Amino acid sequence: MKIVITGGRGQLGRDCRLVLAPGHTVHAFGSGDLDIADEQQVENVVRRLQPDIVINCAAYTAVDACEDDRQRCRRVNGAGPGILAAATADTGCKLIHVSTDYVFDGRKSLPAAYTEDDPVSPLSAYGASKLAGEEAVRQNNSNHLIIRTAWLYGMGGRNFLKTMLRLAVSEPRRTIRVVDDQFGSLTWTYRLALQINHLLDSDLTGTIHATAEGYGSWFDGAGRFLRAMGVEHSLEPCATADYPTAAPRPANSILENRRLKKHCLNRMVSWEDDVERFAREFRGPLLAEARQ
Ligand SMILES: NC(=O)c1ccc[n+]([C@@H]2O[C@H](COP(=O)([O-])OP(=O)(O)OC[C@H]3O[C@@H](n4cnc5c(N)ncnc54)[C@H](OP(=O)(O)O)[C@@H]3O)[C@@H](O)[C@H]2O)c1
Repeated sequence: MKIVITGGRGQLGRDCRLVLAPGHTVHAFGSGDLDIADEQQVENVVRRLQPDIVINCAAYTAVDACEDDRQRCRRVNGAGPGILAAATADTGCKLIHVSTDYVFDGRKSLPAAYTEDDPVSPLSAYGASKLAGEEAVRQNNSNHLIIRTAWLYGMGGRNFLKTMLRLAVSEPRRTIRVVDDQFGSLTWTYRLALQINHLLDSDLTGTIHATAEGYGSWFDGAGRFLRAMGVEHSLEPCATADYPTAAPRPANSILENRRLKKHCLNRMVSWEDDVERFAREFRGPLLAEARQ
């Protein structure tokens, strides 16, 4: 298949390229080569390459900065996916679009997980813009698959686990306070890329959830990762209220991969296993990056 990846230099974009390139003709574009909110650029790429599938990994993901720069946030996360959807619909191409747990308000009683049918109600500008992106995709290309995921980490960008490692490595005696009352599933971008690869052979459309299995708090995630990395650390749990951020976060970010399971397509594994595998496989480069 001929596949175009947008946001190709981000965490998920890089792993999608890595996983898909051996079996497909892949064209991955960074933001400098293809701005998804530029109608002309998008049309040119889609018309020239005539892909079978476009995978949109591009987004403005700085959740707190989105509160201040709402225009950029709406442009990239809301308008961009609509432009991609319209351009792909014109050529009969499928659009796989990546969305987020932040479309939910997280008020569902723990430990119940959100399913694809639960009502959306974003808390933040980022969440609202991602919801607008989902709606624009649905309106403009019926041949779409919207994949909601959460709490991503990978080698190809900044993320929570790398931040924890950097803090632990730079100040081994410091006690790091980590939020322990938000729950979700740390999801490895490489695993999600494998899941996307698996979905290329299916004709599944609509909206699905795809996160790692099981759940924990940020505190649980940090502990699991730093132990697996074998670095000295001291963690202390804290509440969301002790760590104020510009954008409110859902307390419950747990998504259930209900549709994937119903169609026997779920390839996601436990978050603990993947965090440990990530630490094992990338210990050297992760430590080198943390020490920079
Ligand atoms: N990170 C998470 O925890 C998380 C959780 C749930 C869902 N998601 C969703 O998962 C997807 C992938 O996330 P990620 O963590 O891989 O994000 P990421 O590492 O921040 O990568 C996003 C990429 O999009 C690019 N981009 C920004 N504006 C663009 C534009 N106008 N046109 C084209 N590219 C643009 C960025 O390039 P520049 O850096 O050059 O701007 C960046 O390389 C996104 O849809 C995100 O909303 C992420």
